[in-house]
Amino acid sequence: MALLAFLLASLVVGSVAEISNKIGINYGREANNLPSPYQSIELMKSMKAGRVKLYDANPEILKLLSGTKIDVSVMVPNDEIVHIASSQAAAEQWVHNNVMAYYPDTRIRFILVGNEVLSYNTSRLWHNLVPAMKNIKKCLTSLNVKNIKVGTPLAMDMLQSTFPPSSGTFRSDISDSVMKPLLKFLNSTKSFFFLDVYPYFPWSANPMNISLDFALFNGKENITDPGNGLVYTNLLDQMIDSVVFAIEKLGFRHIRLAIAETGWPTAGDIDQVGANIQNAATYNRNLIKKITAKPSLGTPARPGIIIPTFIFSLYEENQKTGPETERHWGLLHSNGTPIYDIDLTGTRPISDYKPLPEAQNNVPYKGKVWCTVAPGANLMNLPSALSYACGQDNQTCSALAPGKECYEPLSAFWHASYAFSSYWAKYRSQGATCFFNGLARQTTTDPSRGHCNFPSVTL
Ligand SMILES: *[C@@H]1O[C@H](CO)[C@@H](O)[C@H](O)[C@H]1NC(C)=O
Ligand SMILES: *[C@@H]1O[C@H](CO)[C@@H](O)[C@H](O)[C@H]1NC(C)=O
Ligand SMILES: *[C@@H]1O[C@H](CO)[C@@H](O)[C@H](O)[C@H]1NC(C)=O
Ligand SMILES: *[C@@H]1O[C@H](CO)[C@@H](O)[C@H](O)[C@H]1NC(C)=O
Ligand SMILES: *[C@@H]1O[C@H](CO)[C@@H](O)[C@H](O)[C@H]1NC(C)=O
Repeated sequence: MALLAFLLASLVVGSVAEISNKIGINYGREANNLPSPYQSIELMKSMKAGRVKLYDANPEILKLLSGTKIDVSVMVPNDEIVHIASSQAAAEQWVHNNVMAYYPDTRIRFILVGNEVLSYNTSRLWHNLVPAMKNIKKCLTSLNVKNIKVGTPLAMDMLQSTFPPSSGTFRSDISDSVMKPLLKFLNSTKSFFFLDVYPYFPWSANPMNISLDFALFNGKENITDPGNGLVYTNLLDQMIDSVVFAIEKLGFRHIRLAIAETGWPTAGDIDQVGANIQNAATYNRNLIKKITAKPSLGTPARPGIIIPTFIFSLYEENQKTGPETERHWGLLHSNGTPIYDIDLTGTRPISDYKPLPEAQNNVPYKGKVWCTVAPGANLMNLPSALSYACGQDNQTCSALAPGKECYEPLSAFWHASYAFSSYWAKYRSQGATCFFNGLARQTTTDPSRGHCNFPSVTL
């Protein structure tokens, strides 16, 4: 009898483990200066990460994770989706090489097919997404593997309406053709709807109208959804529930949610408000408290549910492109030391942490900003960046022509600085960034000299 009770108890524990609330980490590796996979896994173990999410199925990493207690999520790259959708044999090969070669010693629990596929304007990929997921699932079924779920992480741009949450609706270009079949698949396989959800983005786009405390779970206020009366105390819940309501509008009420990515940047450019260590630490610490709370908190629309969550990201990643924040989502510096203390188990009281550096940029910068050559930039790389900046049209660099007001001094540093400023001022509204592979950075110091006026961006 005692033995039976013990066996039943372990069975229960076993099935709960599948949807436990332990915190995972995204192990992004778009960098050229990171610790080895061995060191990285040792770091994740010492941080007590419960899960790790890979953006591929790297053989060395999967081998090293063997025998650890870390649950693993592997990813089918976007460029393999069409092939896997079109051929069951290709799906079998992929599962054989990237999953079964390591499973079960490596605790692979999720296979994510593609990354934010619906954020790219490639309808061919969209229409192959669910067929690829089905083919992968078919392989697992035929191998009698029951504890690996197949999903796909999607970004919030899958919605055409997010606020208030009850108005949540999928984009019309994907709603019938992609979301319905996807939801049907996730529902029938009891898988998760994986969400990349960053309160940082709506808050930083509108910091005057959304309170920072609401985004950081410092809940002093709450917002009632006029559509259904649900009361929200933080932005993350609002964003998750807008997806929940979009899913419900298509007729699905019981699909579980997982957060494939969330986090807050530790640093950013002058035009990026609120990217700092204090906010990042506050967001991630409060997030962990919320997700690991017992009993589970869930969200206003789904009270009590467990939401498996992966924080983005393990490291700062110096080879990501785009605005400066893109390279600063790490819990750890690229040398493996922590940027701030964090307890992934959620047991350490928030009041136990040491004081954080004071936030300097929680209010949007107002004034002129220029884009010039970054200190320490490799001057050898300036000519190609300069010709890119000047090559967009024949006006951007006209002041640099011989005899014109910015021609002198005739140095690569000066000419590139002018070109970066001129290009950025002209094209920022269309999404251009002041980066140029790390050669450029924003400055509030006017570089203009003599008759040469550098174009600027006014924030
Ligand atoms: C997506 O691509 C199609 C055809 O390539 C184009 O007509 C459409 O405008 C694009 N949509 C967006 C949102 O870029
Ligand atoms: C902030 O909210 C006000 C009124 O609610 C609105 O008029 C304004 O456009 C909003 N600002 C932004 C940047 O969305
Ligand atoms: C929401 O705010 C109101 C007024 O500030 C307060 O009375 C109420 O208790 C709060 N509700 C929740 C659920 O936090
Ligand atoms: C979701 O799956 C359950 C069984 O797993 C089924 O009863 C239900 O009808 C499905 N929902 C939809 C909308 O297909
Ligand atoms: C600049 O480009 C426009 C259109 O591309 C062209 O019509 C014009 O002649 C060019 N001007 C010069 C000075 O090259």
